[in-house]
Amino acid sequence: MKRSKSVYWSTALALVLMLVSCSPASTVQPTTAPAAQKTYGDLVVGFAQIGAESEWRTAETNSIQDEAKNLGVELKFSDAQQKQENQIKAIRSFIAQKVDVIGVAPVVTTGWETVFQEAKAAGIPIVLVDRRADVPDDLFATFIGSDFVLEGQNACKEMATLLGNKGNIVELEGTVGAGPAIDRKQGFHDCLNGMADMKILASQSGDFTRAKGKEVMEAFLKTHGKDINGVYAHNDDMALGAIQAIEEAGLKPGQDIKIVSIDGVKGAFEAMVAGTLNVTVECNPVLGPQFFEVALKLANGESVEKWVKSNEGIYRQETAAQDLPNRKY
Ligand code: AHR
Repeated sequence: MKRSKSVYWSTALALVLMLVSCSPASTVQPTTAPAAQKTYGDLVVGFAQIGAESEWRTAETNSIQDEAKNLGVELKFSDAQQKQENQIKAIRSFIAQKVDVIGVAPVVTTGWETVFQEAKAAGIPIVLVDRRADVPDDLFATFIGSDFVLEGQNACKEMATLLGNKGNIVELEGTVGAGPAIDRKQGFHDCLNGMADMKILASQSGDFTRAKGKEVMEAFLKTHGKDINGVYAHNDDMALGAIQAIEEAGLKPGQDIKIVSIDGVKGAFEAMVAGTLNVTVECNPVLGPQFFEVALKLANGESVEKWVKSNEGIYRQETAAQDLPNRKY
């Protein structure tokens, strides 16, 4: 009797266990469905562009707009016509429209904290495209662009080679307060520190435009005339303006005065083929593909690198004719 009771209990226990394990209540049900991953077709992105001051800037704008079309991203694009206040207005309007990600090419480095805070409070990541901003790290997700200090150093080394380490240089600077103007100057001047016979005669902003580059070069020529051996221009457009000024002054650009600039746009290659520009240090404007790749990751809550660096080369007169057909911008 004792034995049959224990058999009874163990059978009952086994039955209960079986029932429990088969019951639907024992399977773990997710309390909420996992968030669906966004695709490019779901993305709404705002881009606050500086303007159209140079061939380079136009190439960057084309890259962003073309890539958005290719990927099916909804792009809200704003052209600030070189004014920071317009870029800030555009960012505020993107926040109001609840875009997924905001890209901005800051015209100058300072004055961004308040509006970036507003984007952060709205949960919208900021991506700095091509130019840096002086803000704390938590106010932007990533910076996609070049090492401008390195570009300045490379330009200086090229100039030293062209001048045989001895000569007087005039410098056409970019927009006052802009990241590339500050950094390209620093890189060039740091490298010059070790070269006693290379001197900067004068530096002035040409605002990254061809017209101002020409105007400033005319003034440099009036003041320093034939003492000038080299022109360092922070971008190709200003160098192309300077070439015109030098020709109009009856001198031969590329020969009487050596010229080194930065960007690597088609116009610079054409000038090198014509023998009027000596070197261009590349700065890559084709940032559309990297920008949208990063934007999609951020919209899906994935982490991204703090600086997505561009790979760039140096192009000289000697190989320009062979390089020119391959230039896309
Ligand atoms: O920020 C990149 C710089 O801006 C380019 O060198 C220049 O051409 C442009 O306007």
